[in-house]
Amino acid sequence: MKILAINSSFRGNKGYTKFLIDKIFKGAKDEGAECESINLAELHINHCIDCQSCQTEEHFLKCIHKDDADMVFNKMRQADIIIFATPIYTLDMSSLLKTLFERYYYNCKIGEFNITNSGLFFHHVDTSLCSKPFVVLITCDNMLKETTHTTIEYFKIYAKFLDSKIAGILVRKQGTVVGHGNKPEKEKAYPIIYDIYDAYYNAGKELAAKGFITKSTENRANRLIFKVPFYLKYLLRFAHFRKKAAQRYEMIMDTAIHR
Ligand SMILES: Cc1cc2nc3c(=O)[nH]c(=O)nc-3n(C[C@H](O)[C@H](O)[C@H](O)COP(=O)(O)O)c2cc1C
Repeated sequence: MKILAINSSFRGNKGYTKFLIDKIFKGAKDEGAECESINLAELHINHCIDCQSCQTEEHFLKCIHKDDADMVFNKMRQADIIIFATPIYTLDMSSLLKTLFERYYYNCKIGEFNITNSGLFFHHVDTSLCSKPFVVLITCDNMLKETTHTTIEYFKIYAKFLDSKIAGILVRKQGTVVGHGNKPEKEKAYPIIYDIYDAYYNAGKELAAKGFITKSTENRANRLIFKVPFYLKYLLRFAHFRKKAAQRYEMIMDTAIHR
């Protein structure tokens, strides 16, 4: 079993995303999987500029850019499972990952139409590249579900259009609260994080052994470190209580981050 993680954090090896990839890899390696991680931030991947050269007879399925895209795509073709790992940047996936996806274009016969397994109408895609089972790993600082909504929905639709299977969705919110994997004193204040990291290890084991992450492990990994009392979110809706509730909300977040 070969697992390839594509890390799209601009902080590369120093980031929280890579820290969590390593937890998954530890479990996967213990089950005998071969694991590799690549940092898109260290590579040179140009934007697809829609020149259509790759769709002409002369340069069919060849890109005018000479960069690292082919190298990444070849690694993806050789992998059994891909981990698409992204921090949330302004409520969406990293542009590094989106730029890579846009480069699928030169591997697809855009003029040829297909019906996908889920009954959608789409152009031809290179299934050896685009249809690998994948895990989505998302990291962010905010705790609200709206923060990761767009990215999670994107990957659900991606799986449908590209005839792929989602092998797990891991969403690690509140990264600042526990110090993004490099502040042990912050982790000590929230011992639940150790169990969450253990769930990441377990996710790796499951990926290697079964090819997917079970719902119970996913739920264990995706728990919040702490929750804001429900009544506060409710009070924020009413103009009369809004100011007081907002102050209290700010205090809770501040205490959590500086605990
Ligand atoms: C430009 C930028 C935009 C960000 N936007 C958001 C955001 O909209 N919501 C959020 O919760 N976190 C946001 N973050 C925080 C990162 O998602 C978070 O710190 C993540 O864990 C970083 O991962 P890394 O350490 O692997 O780079 C943003 C960070 C940066 C640098």
